[in-house]
Amino acid sequence: MITMENIILEGSPALREPAEEITFPISEDIKTLGQEMLEFLKNSQDAELAEKYQLRAGVGLAASQLNVSKRMIAVHIPSDNDDTSEPLLSTIMINPKIVSHSVQSACLSDGEGCLSVNRDVPGYVPRHSRITVTYFNLNGEKQKIRLKNYSAIVVQHEIDHTNGIMFYDHINKEDPFHLDEDVSILS
Ligand code: NI
Repeated sequence: MITMENIILEGSPALREPAEEITFPISEDIKTLGQEMLEFLKNSQDAELAEKYQLRAGVGLAASQLNVSKRMIAVHIPSDNDDTSEPLLSTIMINPKIVSHSVQSACLSDGEGCLSVNRDVPGYVPRHSRITVTYFNLNGEKQKIRLKNYSAIVVQHEIDHTNGIMFYDHINKEDPFHLDEDVSILS
């Protein structure tokens, strides 16, 4: 089971390395790791388990953050509506790739955080509002999905990890809350 002890922090070289493509057939080790990554996210969002295992809540995790320099991410985004148990997006992506994106950009009103960053880094993180992503699932089947707004932002944050990019690389250094006119702010 993955806990915070397995997650490496900023300053670790692996977080700055572009990760390797995963080759096929997908090894059992990679499949297990992917499932554990998704399980971690679910556990971290469960109040009791998070308390028990001292987990920081997260919606996305990249293998790079576990010091495994492979192109794999997990995302678990709960529904906006508390009444439904169906998450907005819950998936493991192998070799994810943004194949197209909107011209429009968006950012989160509260900025971004990261399980590998134990401090607040204020500032807007502009990203594409909408993206089309291709990836392989754990069965090695190619998938293609279109994402927008929050889901698109989370997936871009995680894909950045596979390229050695941290969210604060996107923050304007001189003026962290500067935004170009065409960037919308999501609350
Ligand atoms: Ni992160």
